[in-house]
Amino acid sequence: MDTTMSKPGLDAIEHASRDEIEALQLKRLKWTLAHAYDNVPHYKAAFDAAGVHPSDLKQLSDISKFPFTTKADLRNNYPYGMFAVPREQISRIHASSGTTGKPTVVGYTKGDLDNWANLVARSIRAGGGRAGDIVHVAYGYGLFTGGLGAHYGAERLGCTVIPMSGGQTEKQVQLIADFKPDIIMVTPSYFCNILEEMKRQGHEPRESSLRLGIFGAEPWTGQMRADIESHAGIDAVDIYGLSEVMGPGVASECVETKDGPVIWEDHFYAEIVDPITGQPVPDGEKGELVFTSLTKEALPIIRYRTRDLTELLAPTSRSMRRMGKITGRSDDMLIVRGVNLFPTQVEELVLKIESLAPHYQLVLDRQGNLDELDILTEIRPEFTHLSETERRAVGTELQLAIKAYIGVTARVHVSESGQIERTLTGKARRVIDKRPRA
Ligand code: DLL
Repeated sequence: MDTTMSKPGLDAIEHASRDEIEALQLKRLKWTLAHAYDNVPHYKAAFDAAGVHPSDLKQLSDISKFPFTTKADLRNNYPYGMFAVPREQISRIHASSGTTGKPTVVGYTKGDLDNWANLVARSIRAGGGRAGDIVHVAYGYGLFTGGLGAHYGAERLGCTVIPMSGGQTEKQVQLIADFKPDIIMVTPSYFCNILEEMKRQGHEPRESSLRLGIFGAEPWTGQMRADIESHAGIDAVDIYGLSEVMGPGVASECVETKDGPVIWEDHFYAEIVDPITGQPVPDGEKGELVFTSLTKEALPIIRYRTRDLTELLAPTSRSMRRMGKITGRSDDMLIVRGVNLFPTQVEELVLKIESLAPHYQLVLDRQGNLDELDILTEIRPEFTHLSETERRAVGTELQLAIKAYIGVTARVHVSESGQIERTLTGKARRVIDKRPRA
């Protein structure tokens, strides 16, 4: 049934029946498995070793018979070994920076770039963007997928794009004041820097032309959304993605519900697995997000272990399932004196205190056999009038909240505004782990 007439602007598949979506997924999944097996030696070897063949997939759930793919597989096949098409058919390369070792390299055919632009256009539209809007892109351009991914999607939707990239915070603010964008696409942590700089330059953020922010590339909490929305006077929606699976626009949130990014299930098959056993868990249960691409030509990716922890949720404003907010990556989970802790848990508590700015870091160290956790926070510029005693009381309030809600004892430091390291281009560094490696 084509219901496009009743939902102008949406792709028909966004409101198709579940049966239609799953039939399309099955057809595309069969194609992807065969394409990977026939053209990528790594997949042939991995499927053979697991004793599975693409023809073993009869229904969607059969995907669990197939082996996982990890970042290490991409690294081991550096740079072009995971490509399923001849190099001449690759139109673009991106790579994830990675802190150690070789970057992971991803490639796109013309067709892949076309799908990507369509999905980012769909994502911006879900957030409330429309043709004719001015979009300021402050995700970094370059090997990172954020800038160019957002850029081509915004162009595809028919927007006017300002390709600002990350950094040069003063200039970001000047261009927002002069070019009057409707939408900004940026990491939430860098947007907080922009807001601060607006105030420093004497602009009231709530009076800027911006009406929508499309934030992603790092974990951010509901509390951060509330903080950004109230300080900037905009709608803040969540966009998710990762370079190995495509880049931004694997999933994105609808402004009318703001209830978690809708996974664009016509292009990606999502599973949640138990991070330890690798066994799939039912929708609504938390675990590690795993993706299989359904249409990618250059780099078909089978059961990619994202390390991102979240849950799959039933469809609401679209027919496709949603993902919950990402609590963190399994590799970001800190174990402090036996207590499991994610930086996002601290973020929620920091932002419940009115006088604390949305900048924070967790510093871990070890004294003898004991882990020590220091939490660095800072006062918002509007609260610099607080006395030393009042500031100490703020620190104690946060310390008690962390003990009560997370169960860990931390030393809280509340400094002057501007003391905590700012992200210059993108993802904030929330954790500094000085503990000796075992
Ligand atoms: O961060 C792609 C992207 C760019 C997404 C711009 C959204 C906006 P990578 O550098 O490969 O790609 O990093 C991917 O970032 O596995 C998550 O851990 C994290 N991440 C991305 N989006 C979100 C989000 C881009 N909305 C890794 N919430 C992913 C939480 C996110 N974490």
